[in-house]
Parts: sequence; structure tokens; C-alpha cells
Amino acid sequence: MPNLFHPDRIIRVNQLDSTNSHALHLLKNNNTSGGTVVMALNQTEGRGQQTNTWESESGKNLTISLILRPDFILAQDQFQVSMIISLGVSDYLRAYTENVSVKWPNDIYIGDKKIAGILIEQAIMGAYLSHSVCGIGLNINQSKFISDAPNPISLNILTKKEYNLEDELLKLLAAIEKRYFQLFNDGGEIIEQDYLKSLYWINEVHSFKDEEGTFSGKIIGITEFGQLQIEDEQKKIRTYNFKEVSFLR
Ligand code: BTN
Repeated sequence: MPNLFHPDRIIRVNQLDSTNSHALHLLKNNNTSGGTVVMALNQTEGRGQQTNTWESESGKNLTISLILRPDFILAQDQFQVSMIISLGVSDYLRAYTENVSVKWPNDIYIGDKKIAGILIEQAIMGAYLSHSVCGIGLNINQSKFISDAPNPISLNILTKKEYNLEDELLKLLAAIEKRYFQLFNDGGEIIEQDYLKSLYWINEVHSFKDEEGTFSGKIIGITEFGQLQIEDEQKKIRTYNFKEVSFLR
């Protein structure tokens, strides 16, 4: 099986505005092939979900964007990309620690703290995906966080060790590649099962908030489109798109 992320296709840059923006630019202007990786030691305008920014101290963490051309994934199944990236990052982290989970849709948590964020920007052509830019910010060596990010953690805070970013990059890419080919070869079923098993708060009763107010319920799964399903105390299943519900405690 050929590598997806061949070492020759890793673009390393000292500083960029945002690796996602750069990857989108490459796709637009150079028709860049799938498997290309953009890595920056520093981002001046690292982007998070919605209008958030992404804090990452220069040279301390992995801030990368993977260019995929998953033209075997139907547009309606595009959440599969989110699942394989989340699972790849989680698999990578499980070599270091327990308690890894995916806070829906794709924040990676250790216990109750966020170690990685994922920003996926993709396009469709006809019935299928034409490209995905998968941005990953993974906290590795940063020991202090200054922004108002609510609950950050890094591998360094967790294990008190310093890591070589290049080594970690290759391990991370290998883990994501495995999940990519698992989806390609075996289809989405195992991926979805593993994603559900990894979900933060799955099957536990917690407080949530939606536009109607606060309620108690438990996450029971996701829809075929990746929307979150929470069963409330009246046994009613509430279905949410991203940002329509917040996790309280
Ligand atoms: C989030 O949790 O809000 C998503 C954060 C995604 C951050 C990464 S860092 C590499 C890539 N480039 C960006 O500008 N953002 C993503």
C-alpha cells in the first residue's frame, strides 16, 4: 500500500498566517495532491472553529494541515473525515496516556482538558468530496497557556517530558493514515463504532444547554450526518448541529 503522507510531501515552514489558509491556497493555485502536509512552527493567525483563534506558542506544538482528496467519500458522509482525523489523533495519544476522548464533534480531550483542536474545511464535487483540508493543533511542549482557552493541556504538562516535534509528527501522520485506509478498505462502520466508543460523556447523564435552556440528558449517538443525539429526561431525543448545544457539567 503506498503511503498517504509521503515524507517528500511534507512542507515545513517557519511561519505562516494559518496552515489551513496556506493549504487552501495551495489547492486553489497549484492543484496540490492528496497526502500533502503543511506544517508551521508558528502561526500568526491560527484559526479555530467559528471565529475563534488558536493559541500555540512558536516552535512548541504541532500546527499542521493535511490535504486529502477523499473522492471515495460521498458528500452526505463528509463527517467521516472528521471521525478518521479525531480517531487518528486519539490513537496517537493513547500511546502516552489513558482517558483520551473526542468531545463532539472533534475536540480531543484528556480527562476534562483539551489537548487538540481540529478544523476541517472541505469541498464537494458532484456527489463526492473533492478535497478536505484537515487542520490539527496538537499541544505538545507548551507548558503555559495565556489565552482564554477554557481548559488546555499538552503532552508536556501531562507527562513532564519534552518531545521532538518531527518524531511526533511522523507518529501522528502514521496513526491518521491507518484510519484513512481503514475507512477506504473497510467502510465506515468500524470507524463510526470506534468514534462512538471514544465520545466524551457518551451514555452519561450531564447538563447541557440549547436555545431553549438548560437540561439534563445523555449523549446516545450521532445521526448518519454526524449530528449529536442527546436523550433528555423525558426520553425525547434531541438532535444538534455544531454550536447548537453546549456541554455544561
Ligand atoms: C478548534 O478547536 O477551534 C480548532 C483548532 C484548529 C487549529 C489548527 S492549528 C493548524 C490549523 N491551522 C489553523 O489555522 N487552524 C488549524
